[in-house]
Amino acid sequence: MTKYNVFVFLFFASIISFVCDAIESDDESSKLHIVYMGSLPKEPSYSPTSHHISLLQQVIDDSDIQNCLVRSYKRSFNGFAAMLNDQQRIKLSGMRGVISVFPSQEYHLKTTRSWDFLGLPQSIKRTKTIESDLVIGVIDGGIWPESESFNDIGLGAIPKKWKGDCAGGRNFSCNKKIIGARFYGFNDDSARDSDFHGTHTSSTAGGREVNGVSFNGLANGTARGGVPNSRIAAYKVCNNQGMCTGQAILSAFDDAIADGVDVITISMGRPGIINFFDDPISIGSFHAMEKGILTVQAAGNDGPSPSTVSSFAPWLFTVAATTIDRQFIDKLILGNGKTFIGTSINIFPSNGTKFPIAVRNAQACSAGGNVTPEKCDCIDKNMVNGKLVLCGASGGEGTAYANGAIGSIINSTDFSCDKASVTDKPSLNLETKDFVHVQSYTNSTKYPVAEILKSEIFHDTNAPRIASFSSRGPNNLVLEIMKPDVSAPGVNILAAVPPQKLYSDVMVKYYLLSGTSMACPHVAGVVAYVRSFHPDWSPAAIKSAIMTTTKPVKKSDDDLAGEFAYGSGNINPQQAIHPGLVYDISKEDYVQMLCNYGYDANKIKQISGDNSSCDGASKRAMVKNINYPAMVIPVRPYNKNFRVKIDRTVTNVGFPNTTYKATLINHNPKIKIMVKPKQLSFRSLNEKQSFVVTVVGGAKLNQTVFSSSLVWSDGTHNVKSPIIVQILPSI
Ligand SMILES: *[C@@H]1O[C@H](CO)[C@@H](O)[C@H](O)[C@H]1NC(C)=O
Ligand SMILES: *[C@@H]1O[C@H](CO)[C@@H](O)[C@H](O)[C@H]1NC(C)=O
Ligand SMILES: *[C@@H]1O[C@H](CO)[C@@H](O)[C@H](O)[C@H]1NC(C)=O
Ligand SMILES: *[C@@H]1O[C@H](CO)[C@@H](O)[C@H](O)[C@H]1NC(C)=O
Ligand SMILES: *[C@@H]1O[C@H](CO)[C@@H](O)[C@H](O)[C@H]1NC(C)=O
Ligand SMILES: *[C@@H]1O[C@H](CO)[C@@H](O)[C@H](O)[C@H]1NC(C)=O
Ligand SMILES: *[C@@H]1O[C@H](CO)[C@@H](O)[C@H](O)[C@H]1NC(C)=O
Ligand SMILES: *[C@@H]1O[C@H](CO)[C@@H](O)[C@H](O)[C@H]1NC(C)=O
Repeated sequence: MTKYNVFVFLFFASIISFVCDAIESDDESSKLHIVYMGSLPKEPSYSPTSHHISLLQQVIDDSDIQNCLVRSYKRSFNGFAAMLNDQQRIKLSGMRGVISVFPSQEYHLKTTRSWDFLGLPQSIKRTKTIESDLVIGVIDGGIWPESESFNDIGLGAIPKKWKGDCAGGRNFSCNKKIIGARFYGFNDDSARDSDFHGTHTSSTAGGREVNGVSFNGLANGTARGGVPNSRIAAYKVCNNQGMCTGQAILSAFDDAIADGVDVITISMGRPGIINFFDDPISIGSFHAMEKGILTVQAAGNDGPSPSTVSSFAPWLFTVAATTIDRQFIDKLILGNGKTFIGTSINIFPSNGTKFPIAVRNAQACSAGGNVTPEKCDCIDKNMVNGKLVLCGASGGEGTAYANGAIGSIINSTDFSCDKASVTDKPSLNLETKDFVHVQSYTNSTKYPVAEILKSEIFHDTNAPRIASFSSRGPNNLVLEIMKPDVSAPGVNILAAVPPQKLYSDVMVKYYLLSGTSMACPHVAGVVAYVRSFHPDWSPAAIKSAIMTTTKPVKKSDDDLAGEFAYGSGNINPQQAIHPGLVYDISKEDYVQMLCNYGYDANKIKQISGDNSSCDGASKRAMVKNINYPAMVIPVRPYNKNFRVKIDRTVTNVGFPNTTYKATLINHNPKIKIMVKPKQLSFRSLNEKQSFVVTVVGGAKLNQTVFSSSLVWSDGTHNVKSPIIVQILPSI
């Protein structure tokens, strides 16, 4: 090839791209879209690219259309990417052979994508020196001190206030990042993490920035915690068999508070209703609160049924789990060329080779339940060895693998992206209708074969959504206290784990996990972040700042009140440092609430350790007046009208001289809500103003929950609190 040729080629290309750019600039709404067309037709004469071009020609008026085609998908499935405006997109969507047309959103492959998604980019303003004085206490299953996420490069001396100890036991060294370590499990000899959990949560809350991290090539980017300059103290309360005891938990609180941590994160709980003072976490966190330490707890993974949240105390910060915009999907290609999209995190690359599918269908792949061995192919070695198995439900793949199966195709009884989890063989979950397709292909083909491709990342514009597994409110112990309080990313979070060889020798140091356990340390990181700007704020003020500045979560149909799933909403760290007003709660206020709730005055005195006393008789009805940044109003109308008044007080932490006006959003007119006064004027910082919310309703309400939000706004700050009216059944 001569220079001349090259020149001609370049010249030609630039003309063409000019034509495409011209089309694009004619219409500013033109965006890169993906046109998905399903499986590749089998006719040998079929040419995907010419088909794609011919489709484009019908919507784009340009003779050089070939060059407007950004990409043809033609090896494993059929489709293409092209610049399209709305009109072209709609026209294409209606065309024969087109399954879907959707925008190809720009995204950056970043590991803990969750922090960017929350609006806390790496470049965020930080008070580095104050941040490095903060200590996050992680009560969990230990930590892996050698992980890259806990390097101490560039960190200054250990904060002077630190009274903790590096008592990590055998072969455990601290550094200037991990400044404290203790362990409490019986038969344990060190604070070293023996599974994944503690290292994962610690690095999510306070891990350093580590570049080039991925899970076997998936979700590649920079891993980091919410406050990379903070210090970590690890309190291992679970032994190497995964047994975590209340005793160990309470010991850990006892130490952590005294050691001088600034925030505690505890991704643990137990199901069922436990009274405040029968629960080590509630007890420990009450005393942490007294010392100015906020405790963040995971809501639990028992959703989506209502009343499953297992964190009740108003001084705890309870976290639900949401999705982020990064989802994992994978493709199944059958021998007949049909392609199906499923979910799972499958790191096993494929090379085009298709593997046989075990012919008879397994009703379930486990030998358990009422499945007889004759019906379960998986345990018939001859049937499954070297093959992919069809599983009627998830859970039994392991039995199939033990008998030689090389992968599985699973009928998902509850298909959703938040169920995608890391698989240990090529495997994916399919919607039932697709699973049936695969079954009938298998039934009707002599040698059925299929290939499962490695997972791909899909940019989910419908995020954040509440994870189905996330435990829901209402709070069955104290109905008036909204639980969970907030939500944070907890689906497929990549964070550090103890290094180990998995899946035939892949060395894994960062791993994807889902759960409210993963959401909890995100909030702990943000608590530390807010504290680094406002070191003098009380735990309740920090919590209020985070709750009243949240971003909305997309409501799912199966939740009565979205707030009982996601609390105030998804955390918004950048705004949380500028809340404008806070709903503060002092220790005395909590004590008064406990009095009203009916706790014995002498016991309360003993718990609080001071002169706090219950003035007068306990008034259960006054519990609602605790200055919580959310209002839940349980009413039993008995077919009569109800009228409930709630008192609240806000403290000005925004502009010294300012006026806030009240508005209600998402308000259902069947319930009347009045706020008095409607306007609050402040003349100085830290000034307090009180208001009364009156809720009035009548009989014949055909709904059990009505939710809306009160927003106080001064034009700059919008201080938002949910108001949830819960209609209780008549007794
Ligand atoms: C300490 O633990 C690390 C990590 O497991 C290991 O590589 C090292 O050999 C251990 N050292 C001793 C002395 O046991
Ligand atoms: C991760 O991304 C970087 C740049 O974005 C790239 O250089 C690197 O090869 C990627 N690593 C993997 C394992 O994909
Ligand atoms: C593809 O992978 C399979 C199984 O790992 C292997 O047997 C086969 O040789 C590979 N084929 C090619 C073309 O690399
Ligand atoms: C697949 O799951 C659906 C529920 O989603 C169930 O009704 C059906 O029986 C399952 N199919 C098999 C073969 O187990
Ligand atoms: C496939 O065959 C199995 C019996 O081997 C039967 O239970 C199943 O309903 C068939 N499925 C379809 C979709 O044909
Ligand atoms: C408790 O009250 C007694 C008598 O009213 C007083 O002398 C004492 O200083 C108080 N103690 C505290 C800790 O406030
Ligand atoms: C406070 O604001 C009001 C109204 O904007 C203004 O009249 C007044 O001078 C301000 N006071 C101070 C001390 O800035
Ligand atoms: C309640 O009744 C209204 C009409 O008065 C209707 O629009 C609404 O769907 C009903 N809600 C429920 C949960 O039945």
